[in-house]
Amino acid sequence: MLTKIIAHRGSKGIRPENTLPAFEKAIEEGADGIETDVHMSKDKHLIIMHDETVDRTTNGTGRIFDKTLAELKRLDAGGYFGYDYLGTQIPTLDEVVQLLIKKHFTGLFNLELKTDKIQYPGIEESVSAYMNQQTLPFKIIYSSFHPQSLIKMHALNPTVEFASLFKLQTKFARKFYRNQLVKDWHPDIRWVRAHRFFLPHVQLRPWTVNSTEDMRYCFKRHFDGIITDYPGRAGIIRQAIQG
Ligand code: G3P
Ligand code: MG
Repeated sequence: MLTKIIAHRGSKGIRPENTLPAFEKAIEEGADGIETDVHMSKDKHLIIMHDETVDRTTNGTGRIFDKTLAELKRLDAGGYFGYDYLGTQIPTLDEVVQLLIKKHFTGLFNLELKTDKIQYPGIEESVSAYMNQQTLPFKIIYSSFHPQSLIKMHALNPTVEFASLFKLQTKFARKFYRNQLVKDWHPDIRWVRAHRFFLPHVQLRPWTVNSTEDMRYCFKRHFDGIITDYPGRAGIIRQAIQG
């Protein structure tokens, strides 16, 4: 089976991350999956962004959790990347999901709950309620760096797939291995390369696999997936290795 190519925050390498243009580009580039990050606004809307604050990727400052949807929508989330994207808004989860439906996306939708730094009260219930009321043509994988979030999501969605995220600093993945709720691992690629630890029944999808060398490493070992900022380039390299 081909290693799945999952666009990290959309096609983050060539579009402003976690915006509708980035997700559209990932679909155009033929990504098998899309990874994105969800937070919650002050007025409880589900907001797509990577950081807990808007400082790095918009023209505003402050925490998402301290702003209303209307305040967040007034910010520019494209200008940091280049003039061509000036005026791009921060999307909501609903806007991203509706775009994927409109574009007939049928791959993996990896929604990362950004609950490791701020434990947005009720975010698990809110994401589950929203996703479960949609008729989705794609498969959902929920992931988080925060194990309690995954446990809550599993209780709310017992049939959905879950992935445990872990960082380079994670000493060993034994605690994830023992957790029967989580059969998918989404580790830092540097962790994978340092530990050379693979289990055949674990679906391994490292991030962020951007260099040609890392891509070749993952494709040669037929990992289940890679999470990359450059899905288009990854497709060319996969073609050369896996056919
Ligand atoms: O889900 C994989 C990856 O996105 C995790 O790290 O910080 O890019 O959200 P981060
Ligand atoms: Mg992420």
